[in-house]
Amino acid sequence: METLALFLACEPFHDTLADRVPTLLAIETSCDETSAAVIRDGEVLANVVSSQTAIHAEYGGVVPELAAREHLRNLLPVAREAMRLAHCSPQDLDAVAATRGPGLPNALLAGLKAAETLAFTLRKPMLGIHHHEAHLYSPWITGEPPRFDAVSFEPSVSLIVSGGHTLLVLLRNMFDHRVLGSTVDDAAGECFDKTGKLMGLIYPAGPEIDRLAAQGNPKAFAFPRPMIHEAHDNFSFAGLKTSVRYFLQKQPTLLDDPKSLRDVCASVQAAIVDVLVAKTMRAALRHAVPCVTASGGVACNSALRRELEAAARKSGLRCRFSERKFSTDNAAMIGILAERKLMAGLAEIPLDTEIEPGWAL
Ligand code: KG4
Ligand code: ZN
Repeated sequence: METLALFLACEPFHDTLADRVPTLLAIETSCDETSAAVIRDGEVLANVVSSQTAIHAEYGGVVPELAAREHLRNLLPVAREAMRLAHCSPQDLDAVAATRGPGLPNALLAGLKAAETLAFTLRKPMLGIHHHEAHLYSPWITGEPPRFDAVSFEPSVSLIVSGGHTLLVLLRNMFDHRVLGSTVDDAAGECFDKTGKLMGLIYPAGPEIDRLAAQGNPKAFAFPRPMIHEAHDNFSFAGLKTSVRYFLQKQPTLLDDPKSLRDVCASVQAAIVDVLVAKTMRAALRHAVPCVTASGGVACNSALRRELEAAARKSGLRCRFSERKFSTDNAAMIGILAERKLMAGLAEIPLDTEIEPGWAL
């Protein structure tokens, strides 16, 4: 509380949003990144991310209670650093936003309660932002055209791929989306992480598989591509993980050879990417949208970026990725979406609706 008081060492003010371009502080604590960002007029003035990866790595995955504790420890320093980089003081803020879910409950609470307290003290609006919706719009944070607004926006089929989720979403218009499909078991990122663990790689294994696969042969081993030919928009990755487990069990010394490790990485990655690209493209063509996008941590993957881009180009569609720094969990995507909602008059968003109709299948 003492630190919060220092952070808030200011007099609240009461001018209206109409008087100025709003400046917004956003907080993201849904999983194992503590992040704060300052947004003004569609620009990311600062985006600070403090990753807990090293803490969770020794457990092979995120430990929810450790994550919440780390958020409590890191949140105020991270927020203060974002404000410093943005040359901004609490008096400059017009609104506060935080991820309201989905995510780890206590991790979310740490960010939400800090944001609520700040907004209450400053007497400014507080926006609770849906984590997936923020990923969904993150490809429009930067790029050409650079802003996400009614002018530059175009309908898309959007792939949201992270450690916890794999979703295909039809984005018909700004703030108008429909979930087409999701994973029935493991998420794509989970598949990267768990198969990586089987290969002895540290958590999260996605980036390391990406790196090793760059020098491997994606055709060296034939792993299954679950549901790739099925007409629906759902995914399944648990079978692929099991198949890698049996494959490695049968050849316990295979990975002693560094070349084989690179080949297994490339082959697993190719299986995941083939499914993601095929299903995204099929949905895009079915819905006749001009654009496909990808966001979320797995959208950092080099093969996914290359293959989806190539498939889109072949079909005459545009392809947008969130920039890598806005693909993994970050507060900039929360703030950018919050600002757009604020400007569209959608400021009063309830904080307790983790599941809402727009995100149900
Ligand atoms: O979006 P994110 O930061 O957090 C969640 O909401 O889950 O995504 C983290 C996931 C992890 O599973 C990680 O292994 C994966 O994204 N990831 C990657 C790459 N970079 C991160 N997977 C494959 N290739 C990458 N380059
Ligand atoms: Zn995420």
